[in-house]
Amino acid sequence: MNKEYQHYLSETVKDLKPSGIRKFFDLAATIKGVISLGVGEPDFVTPWSVREAAILSLEEGYTSYTANPGLLELREEISYYLKNRFDVHYNPADQIIVTIGASQAIDLAFRTILNKGDEVLIVEPAFVSYAPLVALAGGNPVAVSTHPDNGFKLTPQQLEEKITDKTKAILLCSPNNPTGSYLNKEDLNQLAKVIEKHDLIVVSDEIYAELTYDEEYTSFASIKGMYDRTILINGFSKGFAMTGWRLGFLAAPKALTEVMIKIFQYTTMCAPHMLQHGAIEALRNNYEQVEVMRRSYRRRRNFVVQSLNNIGLECHTPGGAFYVFPSIKSTGLTSEQFAEQLLLAEKVAVVPGSAFGESGEGYIRCSYATSMEQLQEALKRIQRFVDGLKTSQNTSEKLYSKN
Ligand SMILES: Cc1ncc(COP(=O)(O)O)c(C=O)c1O
Repeated sequence: MNKEYQHYLSETVKDLKPSGIRKFFDLAATIKGVISLGVGEPDFVTPWSVREAAILSLEEGYTSYTANPGLLELREEISYYLKNRFDVHYNPADQIIVTIGASQAIDLAFRTILNKGDEVLIVEPAFVSYAPLVALAGGNPVAVSTHPDNGFKLTPQQLEEKITDKTKAILLCSPNNPTGSYLNKEDLNQLAKVIEKHDLIVVSDEIYAELTYDEEYTSFASIKGMYDRTILINGFSKGFAMTGWRLGFLAAPKALTEVMIKIFQYTTMCAPHMLQHGAIEALRNNYEQVEVMRRSYRRRRNFVVQSLNNIGLECHTPGGAFYVFPSIKSTGLTSEQFAEQLLLAEKVAVVPGSAFGESGEGYIRCSYATSMEQLQEALKRIQRFVDGLKTSQNTSEKLYSKN
């Protein structure tokens, strides 16, 4: 950046760190033949009938704005979906907003509730955008570290320890990116007690709700007493394989959506009209396709977890999403060193755990949303890399002991 511009910039933006994921992938993009376990998106193409509905919408000339919160028909489908799948009830008329991805819904949530200096608890390791979005809304992100001993699940004790009189909200993400950890109903019930006691608002990122592998999904808004303090975030990107469509939604108590819509109408106006027609089709007729994708991810998860543990990279079995988060501590490398050396030596791209906050150090994130053949090859390469590290460690230890 030209130094002359520095004085024009907002102090908050100057302080933001660039995403650790981006930095790494800029390097990977310069190398040929890389197998990427880095991307956080499905390897499936959006189901055909969804694409067809959007094409038809364009052909029929639906090129105008829609109502600010989205087509009522789509909000009705979302309302039905939330009730049917997760047993949470939202009025399509005034409690649901269709956004530009879950990303924008999270941004909208923070901008709506935060005043300068309010603290927001971010459960770490965490998706890269949460802390910057809190900061951009004037708040202070406060990390709450989780640990692999219990599969990176947030415990009520960990939560309680970080609460101060400035804490206003907590961001919960289950299943989690990057750890894949899943909070079941009992876990959520326990957390809810602390949340109620300290009168917190919960921004519940449920973008991976369709991708749980061992247990039924529980929405935080369905937990007793939590509906009134939850901003539910979800979208089409992950479960329906629609990342590039940039369509998400939020559902919340009317007193909050009424305020949110003011921000949304000035910044965005509405989500793209023709894509909203695609989303209606996704919700009406595509659960079977979602289920096919979910089963495929599950098979791949089992294969990847087993292979990594066999290689000696300790890895818990994640309950959802499409990431594994193995420990690389046994190699003696930092997560950045591991990711960089693996990329250069074996052309496999993974994300250093440190990109997801300090507590991610010592781990790497591997996405298994790629074909089984690619996964098999990637794991062979990781095995070779780790074996190579062990051999060179043994050689240097022998040399060292001779001297
Ligand atoms: C946990 C989490 N939340 C939100 C998002 C953003 O989703 P969207 O594509 O709907 O903006 C992602 C994308 O990777 C994510 O992993």
